Amino acid sequence: MLFSVPLLVTTALAASSPGWYPTPEIGTIDNDWTDALDQSLEILAQLTLPEKVNITTGTGWMGGACVGNTGSVPRLGLKGLCLQDGPLGIRLADFVNVFPCQNAMAASFDRSLVHQRASALGYQSRLKGVDVFLGPVVGPIGRHATGGRNWEGFSPDPYLSGKLAYESVLGVQAEGVIATIKHFIGNEQEHYRRAQEWTDVFNFTDLKLPVSSNIDDRALHELYMWPFADAVKANVGSVMCAYQNVNGSQACQNSKLLNGLLKSELGFQGFVMSDWFAHGSGVSNALAGMDMSMPGTDAGEDQTVFWGEQLTRMVANGTLPKSRLDDMVLRILTPLIKFGIDQDTIPNFASFDDSTIGNPHPRATNPEQTREEILNYHVDTRNKFTADVALESARGSIVLLKNDGILPLTGTNTTIGVYGVGSRMGPNGAVCGENMQCSDGALIEGWGSGTAYPTEYESPYEALHKKSSLRGTHVTGTTESWDLRLPIELAKTTNINVVYVLSNSGESTASVDGNIGDRNNVSLWHNGDELINTVASYGPTVVVVTTVGQVDMNAWINHANVSAVLLTAPAGDYGGQAMADVIFGDVNPSGKLPYTMAANISEYIPIVTEIPEDGAPQADFTEGIYLDYKWYDKYEKTPLFEFGYGLSYTNFTFTDLNLDVKEISEFLPPRPAPVHIVKPPSTKVNIEDLYVPEGFEIVDGLVYPWIQNVSIPLANSSEQFHFANEAGEVSDAAGGVGGHPWLWSTAATVTHNTTNCGEVAGRVASQLYIAFPDTGIDVPATQLRGFDKSRLLNPGESQTTEYNINWRDLAIWDVELQSWRVQRGEYQVYIGHSSRDFELRQTFTL
Ligand SMILES: *[C@@H]1O[C@H](CO)[C@@H](O)[C@H](O)[C@H]1NC(C)=O
Ligand SMILES: *[C@@H]1O[C@H](CO)[C@@H](O)[C@H](O)[C@H]1NC(C)=O
Ligand SMILES: *[C@@H]1O[C@H](CO)[C@@H](O)[C@H](O)[C@H]1NC(C)=O
Ligand SMILES: *[C@@H]1O[C@H](CO)[C@@H](O)[C@H](O)[C@H]1NC(C)=O
Ligand SMILES: *[C@@H]1O[C@H](CO)[C@@H](O)[C@H](O)[C@H]1NC(C)=O
Ligand SMILES: *[C@@H]1O[C@H](CO)[C@@H](O)[C@H](O)[C@H]1NC(C)=O
Ligand SMILES: *[C@@H]1O[C@H](CO)[C@@H](O)[C@H](O)[C@H]1NC(C)=O
Ligand SMILES: *[C@@H]1O[C@H](CO)[C@@H](O)[C@H](O)[C@H]1NC(C)=O
Ligand SMILES: *[C@@H]1O[C@H](CO)[C@@H](O)[C@H](O)[C@H]1NC(C)=O
Ligand SMILES: *[C@@H]1O[C@H](CO)[C@@H](O)[C@H](O)[C@H]1NC(C)=O
Ligand SMILES: *[C@@H]1O[C@H](CO)[C@@H](O)[C@H](O)[C@H]1NC(C)=O
Ligand SMILES: *[C@@H]1O[C@H](CO)[C@@H](O)[C@H](O)[C@H]1NC(C)=O
Repeated sequence: MLFSVPLLVTTALAASSPGWYPTPEIGTIDNDWTDALDQSLEILAQLTLPEKVNITTGTGWMGGACVGNTGSVPRLGLKGLCLQDGPLGIRLADFVNVFPCQNAMAASFDRSLVHQRASALGYQSRLKGVDVFLGPVVGPIGRHATGGRNWEGFSPDPYLSGKLAYESVLGVQAEGVIATIKHFIGNEQEHYRRAQEWTDVFNFTDLKLPVSSNIDDRALHELYMWPFADAVKANVGSVMCAYQNVNGSQACQNSKLLNGLLKSELGFQGFVMSDWFAHGSGVSNALAGMDMSMPGTDAGEDQTVFWGEQLTRMVANGTLPKSRLDDMVLRILTPLIKFGIDQDTIPNFASFDDSTIGNPHPRATNPEQTREEILNYHVDTRNKFTADVALESARGSIVLLKNDGILPLTGTNTTIGVYGVGSRMGPNGAVCGENMQCSDGALIEGWGSGTAYPTEYESPYEALHKKSSLRGTHVTGTTESWDLRLPIELAKTTNINVVYVLSNSGESTASVDGNIGDRNNVSLWHNGDELINTVASYGPTVVVVTTVGQVDMNAWINHANVSAVLLTAPAGDYGGQAMADVIFGDVNPSGKLPYTMAANISEYIPIVTEIPEDGAPQADFTEGIYLDYKWYDKYEKTPLFEFGYGLSYTNFTFTDLNLDVKEISEFLPPRPAPVHIVKPPSTKVNIEDLYVPEGFEIVDGLVYPWIQNVSIPLANSSEQFHFANEAGEVSDAAGGVGGHPWLWSTAATVTHNTTNCGEVAGRVASQLYIAFPDTGIDVPATQLRGFDKSRLLNPGESQTTEYNINWRDLAIWDVELQSWRVQRGEYQVYIGHSSRDFELRQTFTL
């Protein structure tokens, strides 16, 4: 496919990233983790060097029940942690719910629903014995329509992503489970994210280095890092660093990113874990600010361990300052205590073996060490609460894009023909492989690590059938999509057609129909365009699109018989039922598009697929801050459907706009003074502790913190890494958890009334956009700065909608100043139904 995007080329991006050292220590800014930190300091004082290392290093791939498992400290009764994907369900476990993916949730524009979904995920994690939930995702943010993992994230609008990430973190962590915001940062495409994967697994032998996301400072702050700041503000316990390079430096050993931006500027207090096998060296990762190695080994055949024994050595021999290891340990222990991780529960399921009884060490190679244990207790974590949340979430995610009045279906004497691969379960049932790498049935989720096993799935066809038998309508159908004779025969006999089409993508752990993670195109799969057009030529047709991202609708959107179009991202267990609820009008659709649907697909930013001669692909984010609707506004392009668009079976009107704006400063006040905490001196390194204790049985294939290869002497290092103490410059925007506290202060409150002026009850997501003053600095025409999902309003009913605008929401990132700056002049506030459909407008001047 040909892509050509008029890009805004300001300055060529130099692919380099400055050093930023040392790692800011936990507790040096004001935060509410102080009590937990005090307790971790007490634990720290009792730990030996290998015990500290054990807390930071995974036991290796398949080194335990979970996808990630850390070492334990048996002497002090500290268990190893269970880290599990995420983000739409508990992966590789039985009796859990598959919730709608985050991209579906973004379409709900519903903070409270997203919060409840996160509570349910936290609750199920806790019941399964998961300590660290690997979600939510805000990177990818969705720069590329074809990005393989977009469905795992929310939306290319950073404000929407940020608010929903905030709720997700709160929801998970309130259940006694640590949330993980990922992947920090610029992880926008699957292609070439990790060189070894793409060379060894997919044969891209010319590749030498992972793709480098080259992002300018302003776009990093106003777009890619923005939602991470919200998650940090919500006290997220962990951050996962990304596979690919940023400005030429691998994201997990990029000190500017981890030390300078995440830990200093955003004041992140928790721990940074590597993405699985993204750990690429020993000392450099530690000094750059990474705190936990996952899964503990690399993916190569010889299972290289960068920490474990090596971390013990590098601290013992003086190469890595003890204080850095101590800080890693404190950053891991403190959120565990703060969020009440239960030391008595251990995982009651096994990721790598679904039998009830089996060997707890799937990697153990020594037959004498393979013992039998109960691995899976088959704990059913599903209940009315989780099921209701999953169903409500699926309903809230459905976007009505077109409706000539055919929906909802009300006739009692109609025959409904149901078509498309997306209408029924695939031939292998709902569960297809450990990564759900299939696409030959209804789309429940994408593929890769961000999946969970469906247990309650009812296909769209079954759901329609069930409802229709209660209403005296008749349902018939076929999934045949290539040989169109059968669909034609059926269409001749039906009154209304419903065609379920789809488009799928996933992680580059698997290739599905030749799509290695990222989609090869934005067309419908399974001959969807032709199927729709064929069926529609026989009568009124409702098209139901389930998709991981934008799709090309040009082939049929204007067909006279395509009477209605519904869209959802993969919506989990209850996606089929929710869609039937909407089609028959039991639920009024209220979703809004969380991205812009292009009229011309050449407007989507292509992923980088070419490998240059030096083997180091470069992704220059030259559009800067102008992503999605901001790009359409800037270049005055008309999309097919804009960001925020979505119809209802009723109509809403907004009135009575009221602004209450504070006097706010142009610049941030001086940042709060650093906090000085009294830390006891680091415990002395005892040489005897460093070796495997006598009588300890090493399980082959697991990673341990002790020095095992005694033939390498423990020489003392005369010098530490020379850069380890070079001070990075602290930004004026730092000083609190989530950045300078002032950023989060209220600058304005806005209210208006929302009235249902149509015929049926419904809910609406009202949207607040702001246009910044013209000060000569390039800014987007408008930016989302508020959204609110109304309650269910009956015809004629009203409610008052309120928004809280923060200081940050009115600021731009000033690259010279290296801080945020509110503009002076006239701001405009719009209340609308989408990013292009504004109903109310007012101005204020700062
Ligand atoms: C990446 O490079 C750009 C352009 O030189 C620069 O503005 C930005 O600060 C750099 N970011 C990082 C994280 O190194
Ligand atoms: C490290 O963790 C492993 C696995 O939980 C455990 O067997 C071992 O005893 C721990 N080592 C230390 C020093 O606590
Ligand atoms: C990669 O190449 C090897 C050897 O040429 C071949 O066996 C394998 O099937 C190829 N894998 C893929 C994914 O193309
Ligand atoms: C210290 O330990 C690290 C990790 O094993 C190693 O890379 C480094 O070479 C060691 N330094 C000396 C002087 O042996
Ligand atoms: C239902 O529709 C069929 C075919 O369109 C028609 O023959 C029949 O009379 C209708 N029945 C009722 C009860 O309207
Ligand atoms: C797009 O990709 C899908 C899935 O691999 C494939 O079925 C379809 O033929 C492709 N469409 C085009 C226009 O290449
Ligand atoms: C629409 O459907 C009717 C049958 O209901 C058919 O006669 C007509 O040709 C169709 N229109 C198009 C454009 O295919
Ligand atoms: C889509 O945009 C490209 C690039 O601007 C242009 O060449 C092409 O004609 C456009 N296609 C349509 C159908 O407008
Ligand atoms: C909503 O309003 C539009 C335009 O005012 C009108 O065409 C449409 O019929 C109304 N829809 C409903 C469901 O009230
Ligand atoms: C131990 O280190 C020596 C010296 O580097 C090396 O030759 C040997 O292979 C290592 N042994 C193991 C078991 O890794
Ligand atoms: C290395 O030197 C440091 C600082 O002099 C000392 O504290 C440490 O015990 C020495 N380690 C070894 C293994 O000799
Ligand atoms: C609507 O706005 C008016 C004027 O601002 C206010 O008095 C009234 O209470 C509001 N009505 C509702 C239902 O919120």
